Amino acid sequence: MKSNVKELERTVVCKKSEMQPGDRKVVQVRRISILVVRKEDEFYAVRNACPHQGAEFEKGVLRGAARATSEIKEVYYEKPGGFIYCPWHHWSFDVETGCSMHDPENTKIKTFEVKVEADEVVVYA
Ligand code: FES
Repeated sequence: MKSNVKELERTVVCKKSEMQPGDRKVVQVRRISILVVRKEDEFYAVRNACPHQGAEFEKGVLRGAARATSEIKEVYYEKPGGFIYCPWHHWSFDVETGCSMHDPENTKIKTFEVKVEADEVVVYA
């Protein structure tokens, strides 16, 4: 019986030491552009295309989610380095879950599995 489960392709991104916290790299897997980011000691991978109008996230900014406090003019950043901000119109997505910061239930980007194997950062897509 033929399975409908698609086989994931293993792609080596780089050596772990070649990416520092806050760094990003883009890899092509088949015809998919994937953005790999390092946040502290964790790696995440998302599709490198914004669902709004298709901008490449690699040119965006990685930072936390700005949240207001009860004090006027005071904000704090939740999950520092955990959100990619689109360079065109600043939609932002959690790199861990793919969920939009402002509409997490309805707007999401594709995420991919990333592992560190024998000191290499590897994406499965
Ligand atoms: S293209 Fe990304 S927010 Fe518009």
